Amino acid sequence: MKVVAFNGSPRKKGNTAGSLNTVLAEIEKQGIETELIHVGKEKIRGCKACFSCAKKQNQQCVIKDDPVNDWIQKMVEADGILLGSPVYFSGVAGTMKSFLDRAFFVATTNNSLYRHKVGASVAAVRRSGGVPTMDELNHYIIYSEMVMPNSNYWNVAHGMNPGEMEQDGEGKQIMEVLGQNMAWLMKVMEVGKKEIPAPAPPAKVMTNFIR
Ligand SMILES: Cc1cc2nc3c(=O)[nH]c(=O)nc-3n(C[C@H](O)[C@H](O)[C@H](O)COP(=O)(O)O)c2cc1C
Repeated sequence: MKVVAFNGSPRKKGNTAGSLNTVLAEIEKQGIETELIHVGKEKIRGCKACFSCAKKQNQQCVIKDDPVNDWIQKMVEADGILLGSPVYFSGVAGTMKSFLDRAFFVATTNNSLYRHKVGASVAAVRRSGGVPTMDELNHYIIYSEMVMPNSNYWNVAHGMNPGEMEQDGEGKQIMEVLGQNMAWLMKVMEVGKKEIPAPAPPAKVMTNFIR
């Protein structure tokens, strides 16, 4: 099994990376392979709302000059997906949001590519806005019919300068517990999926609140 993690910060050794690495270390202890991808420094524009992904059904975004399509395939191949963002103005950092909007729109328009995978989110923050940022990341996971493990508090670690989250003892523990629970849930689902078939996806009903 494999978990692919995405660091929404431009800082490869920042507090988001520190948080994600703490989760991933616990997952690796359980014999599950991991990969950490750095999103925040890439040039990634937002979704064009062209619906090409829906029309072509090719599991790809029409924008091809950035790594988003490679990362979509990495998520398709993974059993678990971990999202992390620094808190910028009490929300997800812009480059990360551009990536997520596109990668998850492709997934939803192509028969729910990440359906029933295990997914979780973490946020790194100096002071305030951690919980809304984690919530915002969780929207992608919830929408995709993924299954979410939790920790013993909200998945937020505190720090301003790179590495400071290492001093946040509670934040570190939250990330460790999340990693342990994520690995456990993945193993449980691996066994359970063989025994209990997943419900068949229905044809999607869409009501746009217009008469
Ligand atoms: C553009 C920008 C906006 C920020 N907005 C907030 C904020 O709303 N609340 C906060 O507590 N910290 C804010 N911060 C601080 C970062 O969340 C904090 O430094 C965090 O540890 C960065 O994570 P990183 O090391 O992974 O980049 C902001 C930083 C930047 C650069």
